[in-house]
Amino acid sequence: MTVTTGGAAAGVGSAHKNVLVEIEDGIAWVTLNRPEKRNAINPGIVYEMVAALDALEADDSAHVVVITGAGDAFSSGQDLKEYFRDVDAGPPVERERLYRANADWQWRRLMFYPKPTIAMVNGWCFGGAFQVLLGCDLALAAEDATFGLSEINWGIIPAGIVTKSVAMALAQRNAMYYIMTGDPFDGKRAAEIGLVNFAVPKAELKDRTRALAKKLMEKNPFVMRAAKTAYHHVRHMSWESSLELLMAKSDQTKFRDPEKGDRKGMSQFLDDKTYRPGLGNYDRRG
Ligand code: ACO
Repeated sequence: MTVTTGGAAAGVGSAHKNVLVEIEDGIAWVTLNRPEKRNAINPGIVYEMVAALDALEADDSAHVVVITGAGDAFSSGQDLKEYFRDVDAGPPVERERLYRANADWQWRRLMFYPKPTIAMVNGWCFGGAFQVLLGCDLALAAEDATFGLSEINWGIIPAGIVTKSVAMALAQRNAMYYIMTGDPFDGKRAAEIGLVNFAVPKAELKDRTRALAKKLMEKNPFVMRAAKTAYHHVRHMSWESSLELLMAKSDQTKFRDPEKGDRKGMSQFLDDKTYRPGLGNYDRRG
């Protein structure tokens, strides 16, 4: 992990290089950095991503995390040699450790990450890279990026937790079609089926991602975290349990929010009449 700007907590001085982290105006640009291997996810990326996400959580200069890839790929998925073949030939305990770390950053860590996350899909996105994409809260893609659940093409299923994530994100017909055929598709199609939020011309991708990150940064970060966490939990809960969790989380948020956003928002709307909650943010400094 290399940090070119940003706070000390993000690991300045690390000798690693599979992941680059650059913090600029509150946005942590995290780049998978093996362009010569189309950013295939090897053990180096796995362990550096775990470290990068840990460091960025504690770094107050990073408000939103964007994950992207160097060169013309987002990521070509798990590294067939370094992640599978080499590791299968080694001690089972190392394989377990690696798979656990991979599940950590691609899924558990990202899904419940305390800061908003955006996948910026700049090019090739295959196999295990779907998990990185779906682990992020939001996603933008270049219109000409190429996606594919290619596993079926070489005799495996979309494992790790990819099939589960795809099943949660896509309608059944689309999920089954791409799992069963392995057909590649472009960014426009990815937006059409809801795999990404927007597909934009490649030349606009970074600016559009930056604009979205800035929009997220304007929100109350404590409430943002609670909203994300609640969403992921209630998807798997009954209606009754969801109500309990949401009301408890709502009370927790009101009680613990350092900004006391609900009081400010209410008073700015009802008393001061200075803003319209349907049309924008309350004044967080007010
Ligand atoms: N694992 C290991 N190495 C990879 C991977 C990968 N997933 N993807 C690309 N590479 C390597 C290639 O072997 C090649 O290495 P070399 O220069 O030492 O020969 C280098 O990256 C460049 O790859 P090319 O195939 O030459 O690049 P090209 O731009 O022509 O094609 C593409 C890019 C389409 C992404 C192609 O590399 C590809 O099909 N990769 C595999 C995609 C895939 O199916 N991923 C799913 C993996 S399974 C999983 O994630 C669970």
